[in-house]
Amino acid sequence: MFTQSELKAQVAQAAVEFVLPRLQLSSVLGVGTGSTVDLFIDAIAVHKHLFNGAVSSSERSTRRMQKLGINVYDLNKVESMVWYVDGADEINSELEMIKGGGGALTREKIVASVAEHFLCIADDTKEVAVLGDFPLPIEVIPMARESVARQLRMLGGEPRLREGFTTDNGCQILDVAGLRIAQAKEFEEQINNMPGVVCCGLFALKGATTALIASQTGIVQRESPAA
Ligand code: A5P
Repeated sequence: MFTQSELKAQVAQAAVEFVLPRLQLSSVLGVGTGSTVDLFIDAIAVHKHLFNGAVSSSERSTRRMQKLGINVYDLNKVESMVWYVDGADEINSELEMIKGGGGALTREKIVASVAEHFLCIADDTKEVAVLGDFPLPIEVIPMARESVARQLRMLGGEPRLREGFTTDNGCQILDVAGLRIAQAKEFEEQINNMPGVVCCGLFALKGATTALIASQTGIVQRESPAA
């Protein structure tokens, strides 16, 4: 039996093998955040001479990449990006995801929005039929925390402030339990429309293009039905 950490390391290595042949010397790679991505950064750093550099989705990933000698660019200086690589807290068969367990959801969504393709890397504990068992992270402007929380309660959610946590953008996170998100795109739009919401941790309007999922029997590659 592989441990979850071993599965994360296997999928991180598989992501390097997937993405490297798709990069050119001039390519800038979008890089997400989390423990799986940490392993991906470590594995791709060995090949840093084969691509130009990366745009990071968090201070955590930036520090790790810079320590390993990967060039990290400001997104404002990058016009295009072919691949964005990131983990997920939950992923369904449509490759819609819940993200933000690590609190980096806003920058992750921004960087992913610029990339042509999103490669999700995860172990199979993240696969679900319906999104929502993992509490949905929502980044909010602090003064709007309670008004957003009231609206989320009306939608059947149980929002809880992530105590003692401030995002890289100086905002707060509500983790919303009790949701069963069957229509993820519509739900994401509904939350995006609440004044004071900076970012919703649902990645459905733009989900993953491709997912690499590690299990005890190997790595499976899935493609988005929308692709
Ligand atoms: C970070 O904000 C998250 O979106 C992560 O990508 C997600 O939580 C997956 O993290 P792990 O790879 O640590 O499970």
